[in-house]
Amino acid sequence: MKVLVTEKIADKGIEALKNSGMEVDVDFQLCVERERLLDVIKNYDAIVVRSVTKVNEEFYQHATNLKVVGRAGNGVDNIEMEGATKRGIIVVNTPEANTVSAAEHSIGLLIASCRNIPQANGFIKNRNWDRSGFKGVELQGKTLGIVGLGRIGSLVATRMQSFGMKVVAYDPYITEERFKKFGVEKKEKLEDLVKESDFISIHTPKTEETFGMIGEKEFKLAKKGVRVVNCARGGIICEDALVKAMKEGIVASAGIDVLVDEPNTTSPLLDIDNVIITPHLGADTVEAQDNVGVTIAHEVVSALKGEMVPNA
Ligand code: MLT
Repeated sequence: MKVLVTEKIADKGIEALKNSGMEVDVDFQLCVERERLLDVIKNYDAIVVRSVTKVNEEFYQHATNLKVVGRAGNGVDNIEMEGATKRGIIVVNTPEANTVSAAEHSIGLLIASCRNIPQANGFIKNRNWDRSGFKGVELQGKTLGIVGLGRIGSLVATRMQSFGMKVVAYDPYITEERFKKFGVEKKEKLEDLVKESDFISIHTPKTEETFGMIGEKEFKLAKKGVRVVNCARGGIICEDALVKAMKEGIVASAGIDVLVDEPNTTSPLLDIDNVIITPHLGADTVEAQDNVGVTIAHEVVSALKGEMVPNA
């Protein structure tokens, strides 16, 4: 069986695929060289992708031998599920493998953005010493609003409580018990969370329901000086609305790891000083990548062999 890997996964994952007797081709350019991908994909039984490769109807029409799509990460938002289902293609992912890294990166963005750490670092590296432009705010005593109290949101919630933050969350799909378990106050409505929060951190998957859920209307309700973090998926915070809210001084800082279009070097967010941006690094740690790589390799192999797969 032939497996194509189009995005960077850990060497341990590639080895695991090879050790299972698969013929493995690794070509990271294929996630952006669409024509070439569409041309070669008919030769493969399985593909392993991360966030950039678009596995959609056009892709499936060319993938005439494909049996398995492995998404090395949490969620499947770059995979069109309907097209896979109607062709009997199995889609597997790794929802547990990088949650700690994503939570830690969210917290990193939160702290770095509210203390202006990257901006100050850039300033001093340019051989300037001046403390006047970088005054930040403390976390202690502030309210953190978490949108989505799932695997990653709950890790962020419990960690930020140790900073003395009050944590509230909006998640209509989570039981009362789960809110209680994490000591998080439940907000029935998103607007209540938005009105009360000093910081808002996004931890939902990207769906039709969540896309653009923090937009102009929400920023109008928000506290002046609110700070936002999005390490989930681009577009859950509407990028145009965020740019506007920052220019109007409603949002004091933003920590952003994900953009609607990726890869992206032209977003207007890049031009705003108090936005700090990383290029979708939430899952990029040694531990998470080893975990994701090995897990997705085993799942793809099991699915190709017709065995039970936990995250299919
Ligand atoms: C995830 O879905 O877990 C990550 O966004 C995957 C990635 O880093 O590409």
